[in-house]
Amino acid sequence: MTDKYAVIGNPISHSKSPFIHKMFAQQTGQDISYEAIESPLEGFAETIARLRAEGYKGCNVTVPFKFEAYQLATQRSGRANDANAVNTLIFEGDQILGDNTDGVGLLADIEKNIQYPLFLKDALILGAGGAAAGVMWPLFNAGVGIIVANRTLEKAQTLADAFEGAGTVFAKRYEDLAGRRFDIVINATSSGLSDELPPLPDGLFKPGALAYDMMYGKDTPFLKFARAQGAAVIADGLGMLVEQAATSFALWRKVRPDTQPVLDALHKL
Ligand code: ATR
Repeated sequence: MTDKYAVIGNPISHSKSPFIHKMFAQQTGQDISYEAIESPLEGFAETIARLRAEGYKGCNVTVPFKFEAYQLATQRSGRANDANAVNTLIFEGDQILGDNTDGVGLLADIEKNIQYPLFLKDALILGAGGAAAGVMWPLFNAGVGIIVANRTLEKAQTLADAFEGAGTVFAKRYEDLAGRRFDIVINATSSGLSDELPPLPDGLFKPGALAYDMMYGKDTPFLKFARAQGAAVIADGLGMLVEQAATSFALWRKVRPDTQPVLDALHKL
């Protein structure tokens, strides 16, 4: 029997996840279906209840429901607790298991696909919303020094405070960044959606630096800025999307798909 999965978000119509998971299923011979479902903004719990009643085995969760998914899960992984957000749900009997594969997705994209070693690098993370929160612990655990910058300093400070006792993560305002240089600058703000650029000073990128925008499918003002400022390696979030999907797929199906053919296919679209 075909096992049913889905990605839940709002909006969701442009999601590439169904394409990605269908390719994974073909490649690994798994008999699954995977569709994109738009949940009403006020009806996420009801949407999940319906999927469970209809026999779905699990789902991915995207903006703006990752925190609600975290709250709905009856058991959560350490990665989900670190991120305070869940992007992967597994329905098992009366339990809802919650995990977060965004961070490992980013790490896999940077280290495996882009082949940029992370250990002992200095990273600047732009933004302090859910996207930033999801990747901070995995980067920290990979041996990356982190500064998190945000328009609203309090939100960045809250994220940085979570590392107290484990190490030091600094929270800064954009205007405090002048004169600092980084190996890696990750745009985890939603500024690209509105074609805006966070107020970044010149000279942020060290020689050989990586500029990474977690958005995909668009040459954002941040990526244009990074290019003009001489960042050596420029990447959007498409690889992260495929890698987080591969980890979700492996959690559900106990088989890890090869991401490269899927990335190649997406680049040709
Ligand atoms: P997500 O879950 O995608 O991270 P979010 O929680 O709404 O979404 O967070 C959006 C982030 O992008 C925030 O850090 C926000 O900054 P503020 O907290 O100061 O609002 C940031 N952001 C959005 N538009 C921005 C812009 N034009 N310039 C700089 N930062 C921006």
